[in-house]
Amino acid sequence: MSATVEDASTLAIEARGLVKTYGDLRAVDGLDLLVPKGIILALLGPNGAGKTTTVEILEGLRQSTSGSAKVLGQDITRSYEEIRQVVGILPQDFEPFDRLTPREHIRYFAGLFGRSLGKEEMAQILASVSLQDRADVHARKLSGGEKRKLGIALALVGNPQLVFLDEPTTGLDPAARRELWRVIEELRREGRTVVLTTHYIEEAEALADEVSIMVRGKIVASGSPASLLDEYTDTKDIRLVGVGSEGLSTLIERGLTATSDGEDVVIQTAATDDLSTVLGHISQAGLAFRDVITERPSLEDVFLTIVGARIEEGELKP
Ligand SMILES: Nc1ncnc2c1ncn2[C@@H]1O[C@H](COP(=O)(O)OP(=O)(O)OP(=O)(O)O)[C@@H](O)[C@H]1O
Ligand SMILES: [Mg+2]
Repeated sequence: MSATVEDASTLAIEARGLVKTYGDLRAVDGLDLLVPKGIILALLGPNGAGKTTTVEILEGLRQSTSGSAKVLGQDITRSYEEIRQVVGILPQDFEPFDRLTPREHIRYFAGLFGRSLGKEEMAQILASVSLQDRADVHARKLSGGEKRKLGIALALVGNPQLVFLDEPTTGLDPAARRELWRVIEELRREGRTVVLTTHYIEEAEALADEVSIMVRGKIVASGSPASLLDEYTDTKDIRLVGVGSEGLSTLIERGLTATSDGEDVVIQTAATDDLSTVLGHISQAGLAFRDVITERPSLEDVFLTIVGARIEEGELKP
């Protein structure tokens, strides 16, 4: 329970046993979260999992029912004012003012922080989100992706060490999403810690150093994308392209587990199986095929396994 002083200095967020109830609903249900400084953490979970509630508690915008949390070493319930100065926020439903330009938005938000930005600082914020060329266009003329970049720019106005981005790319097309990924990676290069919530597994896989999967108010799995894959997947598929359906029975006769998929046959092996043994079986069977592809399960498979199991569990226990 008790972190050492050293631990505390390397953690951007340290939450223990957070609970938030709304009547009978436990939107956040005993959540523990430790986020080292300087990383991108993706909080991944289905609708209603409690992601927004969690980040809003950590931002100091909602009060938890119980539990404790430190953000950048400060207790969230005692030091709200200090935390506001070092944390940046992109809310889930951010919409800019139609009649203000990005530059005017940034100036206005800086004013709310009691700051007036110099030319250089303004240019730096615009450059961080690649909005230099659109700085003086009315927000109603910005694309969805540009509006989201503006939201991130506003989160950067206080030069925060920690930035919360609540679904920064939802509703954007794939190109705009990738452009925003570059902006978010830039925040990490600048030395900031980023916590982003998302439904997009490929976003977590592409961006995040660590992923926490949240279901029904609890974090049910955490780790780097690679370690989650290792931990939760114990199969590896080998696809024989163009082997045809006769190949299937031959392989099954040799004791392999296989299914047919169109003209291909997919052999399921345990992740720990020695690939050369399986390839030996294939070669001894004398089958003709066009290509061999090994298919590792993706983070999406991990997510569906974990979330699926949790939801089933919930259904069994009313
Ligand atoms: N102010 C509130 N009053 C009552 N219930 C609430 C309130 N805010 C959130 N909830 C409920 O708490 C649960 C968690 O909501 P939350 O918005 O944190 O989920 P989320 O993971 O962010 O979902 P989404 O992916 O849809 O944004 C939901 O069931 C939601 O309906
Ligand atoms: Mg949300």
